Amino acid sequence: ARIAIFISGTGTNMAALLYAGLLETSRYDVVLVASNVPDAQGLEIARAEGIETFVHSHKGHSREEHDAAMEAALIASETEYLVLAGYMRILSDDFVRRWEGRILNIHPSLLPKYKGLDTFARAIAAGDSHAGASVHIVTPELDAGEVLAQAKVAIRECETPQTLAERVKYAEHQLFPRAVTDYVSRPYDARYVYERVRDIAL
Ligand code: GRF
Repeated sequence: ARIAIFISGTGTNMAALLYAGLLETSRYDVVLVASNVPDAQGLEIARAEGIETFVHSHKGHSREEHDAAMEAALIASETEYLVLAGYMRILSDDFVRRWEGRILNIHPSLLPKYKGLDTFARAIAAGDSHAGASVHIVTPELDAGEVLAQAKVAIRECETPQTLAERVKYAEHQLFPRAVTDYVSRPYDARYVYERVRDIAL
C-alpha cells in the first residue's frame, strides 16, 4: 500500500514507520512525508532517504485552504492511506470525510482515556498503573475513532511527564509500524466496516 505521513515535529514515529517500510517484507511504502512546519526535523530524515517531501505552512491560510494544499500533495503522490505522526493540526471535517477509513493517528494515551493534550501528566496525577499509546482511525471527532492497537507502559513511583513521555515513544515506535501493517493488510471490506455498521445501527 502507498502511505503518506503528516508530521509537525521531530518525526521519530515517522522515522520508525519509514525504516520499517523500507524492510523487504514491508506491506507498505512511504511515498510522501508532508508537514505544516517548514523546519520540522523529520523532513530531513525523509529527504536523506530520498522520500518525497512537501511543506505547506498553515500560517496565513484558513484551515480549508491549508488542507486543500496538503490534499493536493496526497493526490499527486497517489497516496492510499494517510498516517498522522505528531501532526499538530486538526483536519477539517470535509477532508476527513473524503478520506474516511483511510487516515490513522497515534495518540499518546490508552484511549478512550486522556484525549487531547498533556496526557502523561494526567495519567500520573490520576494514579494510573499504566500509560501508553493508541493507534486509531481518524474521524471528525478528535481522538474518538476506532482504536486499532495499543501499547502499555508502566508508570513508576518516581515518574515525571518527561520520563514517561520518553518511554512511551519507545513503545510507539514498535506499535505504529505494526498497526499500520495490519490495517493496510486487512481485506478491503473489513477496513472501516465496523464504524459504518455502527453508524447504520444507531
Ligand atoms: C507522539 O508522542 C505521538 O503520540 C503524538 O505526537 C508525538 C510525535 O512525536 N501524536 P514524534 O514527532 O514522532 O517524535
